[in-house]
Amino acid sequence: MKRSEINQIMKDSLRFMQKMNFYLPPFAFWSPAEWKRKGPECREIVTQQMGWDITDFGSGDFKRIGLFLFTIRNGTISELSKINGKVYAEKILIVQENQITPTHFHFQKMEDIINRGGGELVIRLWNSTPHEKLAKSNVTVSCDGVNTTVKAGGTVVLKPGASICLPSHLYHEFWGKKGAGPILVGEVSRVNDDHIDNRFYKTVGRFSTVEEDEAPLYLLYNDYKNHYAFYQSALDQSGI
Ligand SMILES: [Fe+2]
Repeated sequence: MKRSEINQIMKDSLRFMQKMNFYLPPFAFWSPAEWKRKGPECREIVTQQMGWDITDFGSGDFKRIGLFLFTIRNGTISELSKINGKVYAEKILIVQENQITPTHFHFQKMEDIINRGGGELVIRLWNSTPHEKLAKSNVTVSCDGVNTTVKAGGTVVLKPGASICLPSHLYHEFWGKKGAGPILVGEVSRVNDDHIDNRFYKTVGRFSTVEEDEAPLYLLYNDYKNHYAFYQSALDQSGI
């Protein structure tokens, strides 16, 4: 993706979130120059993969296959083995009409996907086989505490306020229903590690390669390594 496109998506997303009365934490608005001056006190943001995350999954066509995410809070996988570890995560997503997030599951992450307002979110579901193929069996999920069963590849539609609980190893893809407008989507989950926990059914690029045609407005979390002086020591200290 071009940096200019990423910058524009950031501006458009901020406008949409403001309209929806949703606000990002302070570090969302640190400029690249501010990041250069930051010290070890903010290493958690880096080690726990918090911040802006805009991807076209390598499609070259963000509007058709892509997703806007911002990770608001997160733990690390190592926290799972601690009795008092930070084992949870929260993200905010924006999904456009007919904009697909490709079929995937998570090896350990269980996630609740919540329609926080706007249009309607369509989610297609499959169980996975032991060989990580699409199973032909019916899928039963909990939607706001109510067990719901669909056929393999069947869909569930989340209207504003509705949510679905996706257990690990359950294949899902989603998009915004045509004609219903963009959707503000919440994600509340176990810890998230996008480098090792995602299984995409078809090979995609989870992170876009960025063509630097202008300066970044704000950093994607994938940019921290190029702007944050304590990046490597933060990773070394956390044992990642
Ligand atoms: Fe997912």
